[in-house]
Amino acid sequence: MFQGKRELITFRAPGRVNLIGEHTDYNAGFVMPAAINLSVYTKITARDDRKLQVRSDNFADEIEVDLDDASLTARKHWSDYPVGVAVILEGAGYRLRGARLEMNSEVPMGSGLSSSAAVEVSVACALLANSNITVERKELALLCQKAENEFVGARVGIMDQFVALFGEEQRALLLDCRSLEYKLLPVPSSVRLVVCNTMVKHELASNEYNERRAQCEAGVEHLAKFLPHVKALRDVTLEQLERYGRDLPEVVYRRCRHVITENARVLAAGEALERSELPEFGRLMADSHVSLRDDYEVSCRELDLMVELADKVEGVYGARMTGGGFGGCTINLVDVDHVEAFIRAVAEGYEQATRLKPEIYVCEASKGAEQTKT
Ligand code: GLA
Repeated sequence: MFQGKRELITFRAPGRVNLIGEHTDYNAGFVMPAAINLSVYTKITARDDRKLQVRSDNFADEIEVDLDDASLTARKHWSDYPVGVAVILEGAGYRLRGARLEMNSEVPMGSGLSSSAAVEVSVACALLANSNITVERKELALLCQKAENEFVGARVGIMDQFVALFGEEQRALLLDCRSLEYKLLPVPSSVRLVVCNTMVKHELASNEYNERRAQCEAGVEHLAKFLPHVKALRDVTLEQLERYGRDLPEVVYRRCRHVITENARVLAAGEALERSELPEFGRLMADSHVSLRDDYEVSCRELDLMVELADKVEGVYGARMTGGGFGGCTINLVDVDHVEAFIRAVAEGYEQATRLKPEIYVCEASKGAEQTKT
C-alpha cells in the first residue's frame, strides 16, 4: 500500500511550566506558560500496514492497535494518549500510515509539568510526518486537546498543547485562550525558572479538576441571567461578580473570584514582564498562589510549604504552585546568582519537614515541538 522509505525520524515536544494564569484556560481566559527544556521524544518508523505499535522507555509493556479498528477506546493505560491522538487525527480526516512508535519522556509524570501534552504533541507530529501530512500548529494543538478531552476523558484546557507547539527560547507565552492570539514575552537573562517538585503526584486530581470546571460553568450560568453577554468567566469583572453573584453558593462564588482575579493578574504580569519589572511580577505570582490556595482550593500542604520555604530565600522574586494542583510542582522566579543557595535551602527545609526528597529543575524557556536529528 505505502511504498515510502522506512526512515527513522524523531520528534521532540517539551513539557511546560506555567508562570501565571492557573485554571483560567478553560474559562476562555489568559495564561502565561513557557515550554521547558525537558521533553518527550517520539521515534517513528513506518510500517506497510495500518497497525500502530507503541512502546515507551518509561513503561514495561508494549501495545499494538489497528487504525482500522473502529472500537478503540481508552483503557486507563499510558497508551491512551498516543492512541487517542491517532484516533482523533483519523476522525479529523487525516488518514495515517501504520508505524512503530518509541517514546521516551524526560518530563516527570503526574507532576504538573504537562507530560501528557508533550506525549500528545510529539506523537501527533510524528504520525503526521510519517504520513506526509502537514497540519497547521493551531489546529494541531486543538486536535491534541480533543484527544485528551474526548478519548482520554480529561476536560483540560488548551494551554499545555498550545505552548508545547508555540514555545520559544527565553520567552514566556501570553495566550488568550479564547482567540488563541498570543504574544511572546522575554524572560530576562538575570533570572531562572526554578521548578520544585513536591514529589506528591496529582493522580487523584482529575475528578477535582472536572468538578472545578463544573463550578465555573454553574457560575457562568447564574451570571448570564443578569449579564446576557457572559459566555465564560472571562467576560465577568469583579464588580459584576460582587453585584450579581450574591446568590451563588459560597464555594462557586470563590471559584469565580479566583478565575476573575487571576485573569487580571495575568494581564498585569504580562505588562510587568514587558517592562522587566520582576518584583511586581513576583508579587502577582504570590497573589496567584494565595487565590489558588484559598479560593480555588487546588493547593495542598506540600505545595504551600514549598512556597513558604521559597519566600524566605534571598533572590526569589516570586513563588507559586504551577499546573492543575493537588501536588506536583511550584514555579520560582529566582535571581541567577541566588539559584544554588535557593536549591540548597528549599531542598533541605522541605526534606526536613516532610521526609520527602524534592527534585529541583533549573529550567530554561525553550522551543516548541520540532523534528530532531537522532
Ligand atoms: C492542567 C490542564 C490545563 C490547565 C491547568 C490549570 O495542566 O491540562 O489545561 O487547566 O491544569 O491551569
